[in-house]
Amino acid sequence: MTEEALDLLVEAARRAMANAYAPYSGFSVGAAVMADSGAVYEGCNVENASYPVSMCAERGAIAAAVSAGERAFTAIAIVASGGAPCPPCGMCRQALYEFGPDLDVILDSPEGSRMVYRLADLLPHAFGPASLTSRNGAA
Ligand code: THU
Repeated sequence: MTEEALDLLVEAARRAMANAYAPYSGFSVGAAVMADSGAVYEGCNVENASYPVSMCAERGAIAAAVSAGERAFTAIAIVASGGAPCPPCGMCRQALYEFGPDLDVILDSPEGSRMVYRLADLLPHAFGPASLTSRNGAA
């Protein structure tokens, strides 16, 4: 990805972060995923009075993309309030892994630092679609 494309993806994540619903944690997160088609899909965290019902920004972005018919992704940018980079939680790493280990995960902070990881490095020895190929009746 070019620096320009990265900048656009991070900007989209920041736009989404502005819509975060985080009255309980006070921690706003925004994510933007780039599909192979070139389209960008955004998500923000959506908390709930029943805390475990809360949804992370990354899974919101992936749900929006898949709902639009996308299945392949090149990168996801994640930003959070508070200044420090926001590594995706374990559940989100697993959710992203479903669509490929090669995803670029971009962590950007308003303080200016930017880190890029490969998803497989953030979730080594992952359980993924291939792990199910030996299930009964699998194609
Ligand atoms: N959060 C995300 O949206 N993504 C992550 O990967 C880490 C955590 C949200 C969940 C919750 O609304 C708030 O951040 C504090 O955990």
